[in-house]
Amino acid sequence: MEKEQLIAEIERLKEERNAIIMAHNYQLPEVQDIADFLGDSLELARKAVKVDADVIVFAGVDFMAETAKILNPEKTVLLPTRRATCAMANMLKVEHILKAKEQYPDAPVVLYVNSSAETKAYADVTVTSANAAKIVAKLDSDVVIFGPDRNLGSYVARVTGKKVIPVPPDGHCYVHRKFTVQDVERARKLYPNARLMVHPECEPEVQEMADIIVSTGGMIRHAPEWNEWVVFTEREMVYRLQRLYPEIKFHPAREDAVCVGMKAITLSHIYESLRDMKYRVEVPEVIAQKARKAIEKMLEMS
Ligand code: 13P
Ligand code: SF4
Repeated sequence: MEKEQLIAEIERLKEERNAIIMAHNYQLPEVQDIADFLGDSLELARKAVKVDADVIVFAGVDFMAETAKILNPEKTVLLPTRRATCAMANMLKVEHILKAKEQYPDAPVVLYVNSSAETKAYADVTVTSANAAKIVAKLDSDVVIFGPDRNLGSYVARVTGKKVIPVPPDGHCYVHRKFTVQDVERARKLYPNARLMVHPECEPEVQEMADIIVSTGGMIRHAPEWNEWVVFTEREMVYRLQRLYPEIKFHPAREDAVCVGMKAITLSHIYESLRDMKYRVEVPEVIAQKARKAIEKMLEMS
């Protein structure tokens, strides 16, 4: 099917199913263009509680769709392809948390939303890159078990002065790990007027050289503060920013910073998803109940 026809079919099916399309900032440009709501992980979770459609088509990775389902158990949540998964979320297993709990029984378990529903069921509170430091600062403990992103964990430790026990020991995002000090130096040379916006999933030495360290939603909020930026996160963020602010210059720090899970979703998948009502995201209620508490605590605290 031609692109225009696909879009028309998606629009028709959306109305027929009373569906909305929620999408993350890293989605392909053509997916961003047809989304009803675009955001970072926190904005998407917040929006999920306010949705009044019957069906949510989630153009993002699986943990994001699971979060939407946990917050909307009565709604149908569709993930357009099962290949849309987060490599970092998949690194954390329940055993990692239980092992850390044995060593630090009084430490609260703080999980990045980039984690499975099963592991979230063991969390006291979830966080996103937009609110992690704020939430950990508010917790009544100087030690926290934190996972799965080690870099976000060390950022939180730096900002709050608290001790962070990482679970698993080396949880990371392969996309953000690509950025190096050499990339920062090259960006400063190539674009001497530009400021650097860096996602907290990047390595600590890259974060140290940043002008601002922010979630993808934070990048959108801070962009109008300057007229030229180099963007240290997934490549498609530049499309998102450029569309919002045509008068500001944005440069991707690396063209090869591509999240395979996010890019697995195409317009054809979204069309087939609405046509066949697939793939339905299901979270067993015993897990959902516990995970919901941790997510709701995050929404209350941020
Ligand atoms: P944000 O919440 O900043 O959008 O990050 C989500 C993510 O997966 C980053 O890799
Ligand atoms: Fe997961 Fe990294 Fe992709 Fe974000 S960019 S969804 S953390 S693999």
